[in-house]
Amino acid sequence: MIEKVKTEDLKVGMYVMLGQSWLRHSFMKPNFRITSEKQIKKIIHDGIKEVKVDTSKSEVIEERDLFRDVLGPRDEDTGQIPTQAPPPDSQTGTEIPPPEAGEFNPIDLISEELHQTIQNTSIPPQTKAKEVYDHSIRMMTNVLNDPRADNILSSKKMVYEIVDHILTDDDTAECMALITSHDYYTYTHSVNVGMLSVLLAKSVFEGSYDHNMQEMGAGFFLHDLGKCDIPHDLINKPGKLTANEWGLMRNHPQKGNTILVDTDQLTKECGLIIMQHHEREDGSGYPFGLSKDEIHPYARICSIADVYDALTSTRAYRKKVPTYKALNIMKEEMVGHFNRELFESFILMFK
Ligand SMILES: [Fe+2]
Repeated sequence: MIEKVKTEDLKVGMYVMLGQSWLRHSFMKPNFRITSEKQIKKIIHDGIKEVKVDTSKSEVIEERDLFRDVLGPRDEDTGQIPTQAPPPDSQTGTEIPPPEAGEFNPIDLISEELHQTIQNTSIPPQTKAKEVYDHSIRMMTNVLNDPRADNILSSKKMVYEIVDHILTDDDTAECMALITSHDYYTYTHSVNVGMLSVLLAKSVFEGSYDHNMQEMGAGFFLHDLGKCDIPHDLINKPGKLTANEWGLMRNHPQKGNTILVDTDQLTKECGLIIMQHHEREDGSGYPFGLSKDEIHPYARICSIADVYDALTSTRAYRKKVPTYKALNIMKEEMVGHFNRELFESFILMFK
C-alpha cells in the first residue's frame, strides 16, 4: 500500500519514494528503505515536505518496542518512577520455564559433562562451541531457578572453566559470537551476554595480568541473577508496564547483588557488573545514573553485550533485528550510551 507521509513523520525502516527529479534531492536512488536518522535529516534538508511510502516494503521497528527492555520507562508510560522497588502485583512464578522431563541434569553432572567436552581435543571448534553453549544454558537454567549458595558456587566454577577455555582456544572462541540463541529467556540471555562479554574482555584486556578474568566472567554470566524472581509474564509483557512493574524490573541489579551477599559469593568483579550493567555513559541509566568514568570498564563491557543481545533476540512484543541492524541502531540511535572504544572493539568481533 502506498501512503503519503510528511517528512517530519518519517521513521527508520520506511520504504520511501521521493518522487522528485534526482536534481532536487541528494540521494543516488529516489526509492529506498531508510536505514538511519541521518537520511531523514537529509530529506528534510533537501526541502522535501512530503513523500510516498510503500508500506509493503517498509520494516519499521517502533522505537518504544525496540528500546523498552534496554532503556527503561518513559514518563508517559509510567508517571513517577518509584525510587524504592515496590512488591510485584502478582508473583506467579519465575520467568524460567521448567526443564523438559529427561533433560534435567543436576549441576554437578552438567559440570562434569562440560569438563569432558572441553578436554576432548577431537571435537571440531564449531561443535565444541555449540556444546559448551548448550551446557552453559543448562547451568544457568539451574542457577536461576534455584539461586542457592551451592548452585551459585558450582556455576561459578563452570564459568571459570569456560573462561579459561575461551582465553586459550582461539578457534572455539571465534565460533562463540555466532552461536548465540535468539529466543529470549533470562537463561539464554545470561549465557549470550556472558559469552559475548568474555570475548570482548579478551580482546580488550589481552596480554594484561591486571584482571581476574574468571571472576569477571562469573559476573558477566550472573549479571541478571536478580531477575530470578521476576515472573516470566512480566519480562515478556507486551504493551506498557505500570510504574510498579518498572520498579520491579529496575530493582534487579540490587536484587542480584543481595543474593550474592546472602550466599557469600560476592566479589568485586561480580558486584560491579551486576550493579552497573544498566548504567549509561551519558548518565541516562539506572540504578544510580552514573556517567563516563564513574562506570567501571567491566560493567561498560557488559552493557554493550546486554543491549546487543536484547536487540537481536525475539521478544513477545517485537521481532529480533539482525546483527548489522542491531550494531547500527546502537551506533546511530543510542549515541552516548556506550564507551566508544569498547563499542568499536565489539563491532570488530563480528567482522
Ligand atoms: Fe539486566
